[in-house]
Amino acid sequence: MGGKSQLLSQLSRWVPEAMERYFEPFMGGGAMFFAQRPGRAVLADVNDELVDCYSAVRDHLDDVIEALKQHRYEKDYYYEVRAWDRRSLPLIERAARTIFLNKTGFNGLYRVNSKGLFNVPFGRYSNPKICDEANLPACSTVLQGTEIRHTDFEGLLKEPTDGDFVYLDPPYIPLNATANFTAYTAGGFGPDDQRRLAASLVTAHRRGARFLLSNADTPVTRELYSELLDEPGVDLDIVRARRAINSKAGRRGPVNEVVIFNR
Ligand SMILES: C[S@@+](CC[C@H](N)C(=O)[O-])C[C@H]1O[C@@H](n2cnc3c(N)ncnc32)[C@H](O)[C@@H]1O
Repeated sequence: MGGKSQLLSQLSRWVPEAMERYFEPFMGGGAMFFAQRPGRAVLADVNDELVDCYSAVRDHLDDVIEALKQHRYEKDYYYEVRAWDRRSLPLIERAARTIFLNKTGFNGLYRVNSKGLFNVPFGRYSNPKICDEANLPACSTVLQGTEIRHTDFEGLLKEPTDGDFVYLDPPYIPLNATANFTAYTAGGFGPDDQRRLAASLVTAHRRGARFLLSNADTPVTRELYSELLDEPGVDLDIVRARRAINSKAGRRGPVNEVVIFNR
């Protein structure tokens, strides 16, 4: 939810037709990865729950499906499962719990409290597909041969080189941001992280890696990424996006998104 699906057709024009390796350091829902289905890929995210979930679907598909079939759509049961300490669960049950909460929680949201505990309320659905027996094997197939790492983006960005492609969808710069906005996510991703990201991309660009980065079109975006944008061969464009996740329905209209890329 809130993934990039609706933007993919617009973004694909900046994805090279052939590449050695595909890198995605902010994997999240992985919409671009699953659309591209690259042969060789390295994916990463700082969210360990997400990384574990993808790894389990890649390596233990049948067990994850079996574990998912044990779950049911029921309010009291949802809150019971939500309260389980995922860190004490074995990998397969942990992955099944993550998928179950994603399929039955409010709006498919992912949100944790300051202690890192999932706190999305129960969602209303007519018949949620807790165990999607068509999609899970398809995801598992695409994930075969893919490395999935639990790491910050900076280490990962030291690897791509000539022939590789990197797609980056970092946490958005808030629409009302100023150049020193404070980080708003649980993990925290503020202007210093955006600058750190831009600096890592400068070196990856100079090593010959191709990249495509998307972010919100805010007045400070160009400022935070100015060093990267000064590099020869790096360019910027605008795409129209529709933000799916916004608690205020009136703000769900189209919002511009900036793409920064090289050739
Ligand atoms: C905007 S989401 C990516 C959405 C994704 N492209 C999709 O299609 O769903 C950003 C992701 O970056 C991750 N993240 C936040 N800080 C990070 C960091 N320092 N290094 C790597 N990943 C990070 C978050 O956990 C989140 O999954």
